[in-house]
Amino acid sequence: MKIAIIGGGPAGLYAAILLKKQRPQAEITVYERNRAGDTFGFGVVFSDATLDNFEKYDAPSYRRITQEFAYWDDIAVHFRGTVHRVGGNGFCGCSRRMLLLILQERARELGVALMFEAEIDDEARFADADLVVLADGINSRFRDRYAEHFQPEVDVRSNMFAWMGSTRPLDAFTFIFQETEWGPFIAHAYQYEVGRSTWIFETDPETFERAGLAGLSEKQSAERMAGIFGWFLEGHQLLTNRSMWRNFPMIRSKRWVKDNMVLLGDAKATAHFSIGSGTKLAMEDAIALADAMHRAPTVNAALQQYEEGRREEVEKTQHAADVSLVWFEHVDRFWEFDPVQFAFGVMTRAKAITYDNLMLRAPDFVAEVDKSFARQVRARGLDVDVEQPDAPMFQPLRLREMQLANRVVVSPMCMYSAQEGVPGDFHLVHYGSRAIGGAGLIFTEMTCVGRDARITPGCAGLWNDEQQAAWRHIVDFVHANSAAKICLQLGHAGRKGATKLMWDGIDRPLEQGGWDVLSASPIPYFPDSQVPRQMDRAAMDAVKAEFVAAAERGERCGFDMLELHCAHGYLLASFISPLTNQRSDAYGGSLANRLRFPLEVFEALRSAWPSHKPMSVRISATDWAEGGIAGDDAVAIARAFAEAGVDLVDVSTGQTVRDAQPVYGRMFQTPFSEQVRNEARVATMCVGNITTSDQVNTILAAGRADLVALGRPHLADASFTMKAAAWYGAEIFCPPPYLPGKEQIFRNSVRDRQDFDDLKIKAKPKTRAELKAEATKPLAAE
Ligand SMILES: Cc1cc2nc3c(=O)[nH]c(=O)nc-3n(C[C@H](O)[C@H](O)[C@H](O)COP(=O)(O)OP(=O)(O)OC[C@H]3O[C@@H](n4cnc5c(N)ncnc54)[C@H](O)[C@@H]3O)c2cc1C
Ligand SMILES: Cc1cc2nc3c(=O)[nH]c(=O)nc-3n(C[C@H](O)[C@H](O)[C@H](O)COP(=O)(O)O)c2cc1C
Repeated sequence: MKIAIIGGGPAGLYAAILLKKQRPQAEITVYERNRAGDTFGFGVVFSDATLDNFEKYDAPSYRRITQEFAYWDDIAVHFRGTVHRVGGNGFCGCSRRMLLLILQERARELGVALMFEAEIDDEARFADADLVVLADGINSRFRDRYAEHFQPEVDVRSNMFAWMGSTRPLDAFTFIFQETEWGPFIAHAYQYEVGRSTWIFETDPETFERAGLAGLSEKQSAERMAGIFGWFLEGHQLLTNRSMWRNFPMIRSKRWVKDNMVLLGDAKATAHFSIGSGTKLAMEDAIALADAMHRAPTVNAALQQYEEGRREEVEKTQHAADVSLVWFEHVDRFWEFDPVQFAFGVMTRAKAITYDNLMLRAPDFVAEVDKSFARQVRARGLDVDVEQPDAPMFQPLRLREMQLANRVVVSPMCMYSAQEGVPGDFHLVHYGSRAIGGAGLIFTEMTCVGRDARITPGCAGLWNDEQQAAWRHIVDFVHANSAAKICLQLGHAGRKGATKLMWDGIDRPLEQGGWDVLSASPIPYFPDSQVPRQMDRAAMDAVKAEFVAAAERGERCGFDMLELHCAHGYLLASFISPLTNQRSDAYGGSLANRLRFPLEVFEALRSAWPSHKPMSVRISATDWAEGGIAGDDAVAIARAFAEAGVDLVDVSTGQTVRDAQPVYGRMFQTPFSEQVRNEARVATMCVGNITTSDQVNTILAAGRADLVALGRPHLADASFTMKAAAWYGAEIFCPPPYLPGKEQIFRNSVRDRQDFDDLKIKAKPKTRAELKAEATKPLAAE
């Protein structure tokens, strides 16, 4: 077999090693345009888990790599004169040059032919090769040559970065966030060998411009950085090696394989440097290719297997890198945060590290995070313990005169079980048990303001006395038997009205017994849905009056809070999204125009609703569709409602149009809440695939939301909050008849939690840094 590998970076060399081990008879050649010792940049970093993989696949190169490595366990965050350190991270660094020399030596040893100063321009010369590996890096010539086939997408990110080095020793992966007269600069730094550290500097394009970096030479810009970070460098030099400022390109390719050619490493996909995974991905690609070549009967089958088997893992890493890079791009959102909360945000930005996870490895840090959170609550006039505070999810929140005992919310969820809009026994048990279950705030399902405002025949309403009495019964029960507050969500279905019950076909038009539907524009939801009537001014007045009348009834029921539903493509949302609003009058066109009617309804409700009671608005922060609402619009929408007196923005997404393409995942809507909260400076509630109390605490402690709503998890578990209170040892109200149950779960949880923590600690292997520290520790005197 003949294998040609274009590119002698980590991907190409490691692929050569693994394939040669597998097929000693194969003729394998690596073509590298540089000389053997040439390399740009300074260090690379691997996690312990990545090194374990290397050990399994090629022990000799693993041993040499690890002999050369610098190990560290801590991440240190420097911000506004403070430093927060968190241990237990298990990372290693080594020089990129050393890594390449080790891989070259090992490849040679195995009999791989290494051709340096061999720039390949035309793969036709490999016509007789069975396999051609395209490992030619981020600017891959071959990926671009066959762009029509590989379909690469290049997303050039806004921040500027430069990769430098220093002689400054470091004992932790170090992030420094530095305010300057031009704006914020960030340094990502780590040591990779004795006396050498990598320094990646990053800043936003405006700060870059103001600092005049565009006009400086490599040397001058290193001097400028040394000036900014001089206090930390302590007289150590900054070193350069082609350290030009650039933008990071996030690259994704739709296809990785063409005939017998395969893309590997940065050539196929990149991951932002802030999660330090580029070299790891490149070498793990090589592992995946070698595995596929071992298993599959033919080269073509192997390449298909490689692409199919590897894609998900690469995309997962890229997603984590995306989340991380966006955090760094928007660091200004957090610049006013308390430093410990800021550090917690840095640590938890990419979802892998969480509140509970940090509690195990850095309990003192988490204790500080809790105290900082409690101090903020106290600064808002609430009497909480700041010395031994409860976890963030059990901190109270006040909105106007309504005080919530904790930050967990039962999200509004239609039960499709009302008769002519009247909530019945099912609703009493549903809301009542969730209130007893401990959530701080219960939302009603979307409660419709008129018969024709319903989504389905099973939707609850509040337009007549019978409905009002039924809701009053539920509200009274909640108030009498729990500490929960209850919020009425009012809505109008708009063009999604007159549809079937969820379990009969969600959003599908009723075949019989439907009613006429309204919308901002006459566009049906499905092609076969009813064409809605475009609302004229008279219809707007009528609907507004229905909302006001329902709010007045809500007050008579005793609800504590009112939410206006402006999300998910229903009537008011249909005005806000340009995909559903194609009007040419004062209610269409610009965002300000599209917001006019929803704001008018909100203002009418705000006047009708008692001024001591809070109001929220639910929005779809993105339509997940081309040409629709996106995150920046959500900030503008939130600002407009905040000016009109909203106390909380309930940040949901989507459900506007049928062909939306949501990107689901754990806590997938939380970034929108974070953006709205920290740009529009308004309290937010986040929701969407949040399933654990650990996630709730992580979101709150990092300042990504003020309240956390759980929908589906509450359908399966009414006592979610009670159980979490037992787990974290937080005080929580329980009605007297249930006290024995509460006492038992609180007692058992202490032991369960200890067992769980012990198990996790036992299951976690020692980090290499810990092992090294143990190996070098002097023996205790007997
Ligand atoms: C600022 C910065 C910091 C980074 N920090 C880290 C980090 O800390 N840890 C980490 O793991 N990763 C890091 N990376 C990413 C890492 O450098 C790359 O992801 C990794 O090197 C990818 O390996 P590769 O083999 O795919 O590509 P490369 O390492 O780029 O190798 C490609 C090789 O192909 C050669 N080549 C290109 N075209 C041709 C041709 N036509 N003919 C012959 N040869 C050719 C090039 O000369 C090069 O040697 C960082 C990247 C940047 C930009
Ligand atoms: C059965 C069901 C009914 C829902 N009804 C409503 C509703 O009436 N009003 C609303 O704003 N959102 C409604 N939603 C959306 C939820 O409030 C929540 O935003 C969504 O389920 C995502 O959260 P989760 O992942 O915690 O379930 C509903 C969701 C479900 C599953």
